[in-house]
Amino acid sequence: MSDLKREQRKNEHVEIAMAQQDASISDFDEMRFVHHSIPNIDVADVNLQSELQDFTMKQPIYINAMTGGSEWTKNINEKLAIIARETGMAMAVGSTHAALRNAKMSSSFSVVRDANPEGMIFSNVGADVPVDKAEEAVKLLDAQALQVHVNSPQELVMPEGNRVFSTWMENLAQIIQRVKVPVIVKEVGFGMSKEMIKALNEIGVRYIDVSGRGGTNFVDIENERREYKDMDYLGQWGQTTVESLLESTAFQQDMNFFASGGVRTPLDAVKCLALGARAVGMSRPFLNQVENNGITATLDYAEQFTDHMKKIMTMLNAQSIDELKQAQIVYGPRLHAWIEQRNLDIK
Ligand SMILES: Cc1cc2nc3c(=O)[nH]c(=O)nc-3n(C[C@H](O)[C@H](O)[C@H](O)COP(=O)(O)O)c2cc1C
Repeated sequence: MSDLKREQRKNEHVEIAMAQQDASISDFDEMRFVHHSIPNIDVADVNLQSELQDFTMKQPIYINAMTGGSEWTKNINEKLAIIARETGMAMAVGSTHAALRNAKMSSSFSVVRDANPEGMIFSNVGADVPVDKAEEAVKLLDAQALQVHVNSPQELVMPEGNRVFSTWMENLAQIIQRVKVPVIVKEVGFGMSKEMIKALNEIGVRYIDVSGRGGTNFVDIENERREYKDMDYLGQWGQTTVESLLESTAFQQDMNFFASGGVRTPLDAVKCLALGARAVGMSRPFLNQVENNGITATLDYAEQFTDHMKKIMTMLNAQSIDELKQAQIVYGPRLHAWIEQRNLDIK
C-alpha cells in the first residue's frame, strides 16, 4: 500500500467517524446505581487520581488513540496534545505505522510530544508489527506506555485489510517481553471476553483497554469504504464496554483495565470506574469537540466532565476511584442475561 493511500485512509477514517452516531441503545443505561439520600462526604473530598501498577494518572479520563499520519491529522494531534497538557490528561496517538514506514510522517506524531513535553503519552501500533518497530514507536514519542491495538473485525471488513491473524498472539508475547514501557493491549470498539483476557494474562499482559461496542464503530466505518457496502450486517459484532468490564472482573486483582468505547457522559465514565476500570478513554467526543468547537471549548468540556464525575462520586460516597467499587449496582434484563449465561462471578 502506498504512503499516499495510507494517508488518504486515515483522513477517511476521521471524516467518517466524525459523522457517525453512537449506538441507539446503550448498555450504560442497563446499569443503575442505587441512590442513598444523604451523602456522608462533600464534593471537595473526592480525589480523581488513579493508581495503576506502574504509574499514576492525574485524571481518570484520557484522550484515546485516533490520529497522525497525514497533514490534517497532524494538526488534530497538536490540538489534542495542547488539551492533554492543559488538563493533565493522558493521550494516546493513532497507529504510528505510517511513521514507522515513512520517516516524513514522524512529525505528525511527534508533534504530540513537542506540544506536551511533560505529559503522559501512549504510542500505538498494531499486533502484527515487528518488535523492533514497536520499540521505535515508543522512542518516537518518548512514550510512557505502548498501546497495541487488536482490530480483527475492522481488518476483515476493510477492503485492503489484513487476513492473517494466527501470528498475532506470538508476536504480542514478544512485544511484551522486549518493550521496556508498560504495554496496553487495546481493542478498537469490539470489546473483550474473559477467555481472551485469560490468554493475554498468560503471555504476561498486565494492561488491557477493553474498548467495547457502543460508540465509534469500525465495522460501519470500513463498510462505508467498501464498493458495495455489503457488510453492514456485522454492525452489532462484539461486546459492549459494560459487558467487557463484567468479563474482566475475575482478572482485576492481577491486571489493570482501561475502559473505552461509547463513553459519552460523566455518568458513563463513573459506571466504568465502578466496574473496575482504572481510567476511561474517549475518542470521537474529543475529536468532534476540537474540530467543531476549538481548543478553548474542549478544555471547558473536559473540565466540566471531571467536575461532574466528582459530583456523581459524592452521591455514591466514593472519595476515590477505589471506593467506587463499593457502589451498589442493579443490572437490567439484557446485562443480567449476559452475566448469567457467561457465568460471570461479579461479586
Ligand atoms: C478517527 C478515529 C481513528 C482511530 N484510530 C485508531 C488507531 O489508529 N488505533 C487504535 O488503537 N484505535 C483507533 N481508534 C479507536 C479508538 O481509540 C477507540 O477505541 C474507539 O473509537 C472507541 O471509542 P469512542 O467510542 O470514544 O470513539 C480510532 C478512533 C477514531 C474515532
